[in-house]
Amino acid sequence: MAATDAEAGKSKHSAGLAAKTAAIGPSFPKGFLWGAATASYQIEGAWKEDGKSESVWDRFTHTQGKIRGGDTGDIACDSYHRYTEDIAIMKQLHMKSCRFSIAWPRILPDGTGTVNQKGLDFYKRFVDTLLAAGIRPSCTLYHWDLPQVLQDKGGWPNRDMAGWFSDYAAIVTKALGDRVKTFAIFNEPYVFCFCGYGIGVHAPGIADMGQYLKAAHVANLAQGDAYRAMRAIAPKAEIGGAYNMSPAEPATNSPEDRAAAEKMHAANNIFFIAPALTGSYPKEFAPLDAMGFQPGDEARVRAALDWIGINYYFRMKVRADATEKTMGYRADIPREGPLTHLGWEVWPQGLYDIVTRTARDWHLPIEITENGCSYADPPGVDGTVKDDRRTDYFRGHLTALARAIQDGAPVRGYHAWSLLDNFEWGEGYSQRFGLTWVDFRSGRRIVKDSGRWYGRVAAANAVIA
Ligand code: NOJ
Repeated sequence: MAATDAEAGKSKHSAGLAAKTAAIGPSFPKGFLWGAATASYQIEGAWKEDGKSESVWDRFTHTQGKIRGGDTGDIACDSYHRYTEDIAIMKQLHMKSCRFSIAWPRILPDGTGTVNQKGLDFYKRFVDTLLAAGIRPSCTLYHWDLPQVLQDKGGWPNRDMAGWFSDYAAIVTKALGDRVKTFAIFNEPYVFCFCGYGIGVHAPGIADMGQYLKAAHVANLAQGDAYRAMRAIAPKAEIGGAYNMSPAEPATNSPEDRAAAEKMHAANNIFFIAPALTGSYPKEFAPLDAMGFQPGDEARVRAALDWIGINYYFRMKVRADATEKTMGYRADIPREGPLTHLGWEVWPQGLYDIVTRTARDWHLPIEITENGCSYADPPGVDGTVKDDRRTDYFRGHLTALARAIQDGAPVRGYHAWSLLDNFEWGEGYSQRFGLTWVDFRSGRRIVKDSGRWYGRVAAANAVIA
């Protein structure tokens, strides 16, 4: 090929690339934090290494019949040993924020008391590697892996948990507060209380709505106590939380269904935000006696959160239903949009709706702490993973998010769930949410096409074609 042809070919190629990265939506604000999220139990493996004790999820997954396919997090993505590889992928994809969580049983194998230095050292190494890569560490203190010894003492329904948790929060803040500025106290407190104690599909597997209501109140006490303990140690830290949120749409226009939707919003979306920011439970759902509310708890549940994290996956249609004795409503995921491999409806407008409502109601900086989808697309013969549906999913949601920001919502970051395919709780490894394919036999990682696309979005700070 003549030099000129080669040049022509080259410029055609770069024109193609330029077209590929052309912004199709508005740019995001300068300094917007593009990132991905993970969680300790879902990726780390090394379940009994370096002094770590058993968590409720170790116990649950080792109990026959609890997890699809009998899967466990014993090895998972083996990120305990491969975290430098994971961070290199984040850097390669131009990410600026990594949301990760700490496994409490690595830090305090007895749940309380003696600190396991090896556990703290692991997270120090992890954070230092992020910082060296120019990535902000965003540390979640609790993403569901409770030390089993504390479950043996009753777990979240036991009011003593609030003190045990805030002691743990203080230890982590003291150890990491010099290098981590952004903390989330809890990941999805509604889910770990409801699924773990109310309906029993998550660890520790208890199905008792009375236990759920108690657990939820103790989690609110723990959030307040931990907030104060952390603030005393790290006055400048940005302390928030990551909350699962689904915009609640009434199934019909009847007054009953409209009231049920507001009740669901209270019980699901803001049940761990309203107490923190106002000192009381939302009036639409506040079964104080059943929760074991005591005099003085108004002050204890308060936490002047600096930011709100939203985990968004789907909207819900809600109808009044008296047979649902505790909640009084029934909430379902509609099926009007396309469905993911997990059967969740793809509905980008829901992200707009919940972000703008949260901005209106609470006037705090917002981060999207999770958003993503499960599709099973495997590597092809050429070794690449062509997961166009995931790219479409992210493009749709990011376009909706850009609109929310344009309309005034103070959103400063977005974390794709997830960096890696990982252990999806009761679904085991059957559901893949990653921007990166993981071969769970070899541990090999392959960045999917959606991951490459996301990297270009992060570099352009704009939604691209
Ligand atoms: C929210 C949870 O925080 C995360 O652990 C889970 O994997 C995703 N939802 C997907 O279900």
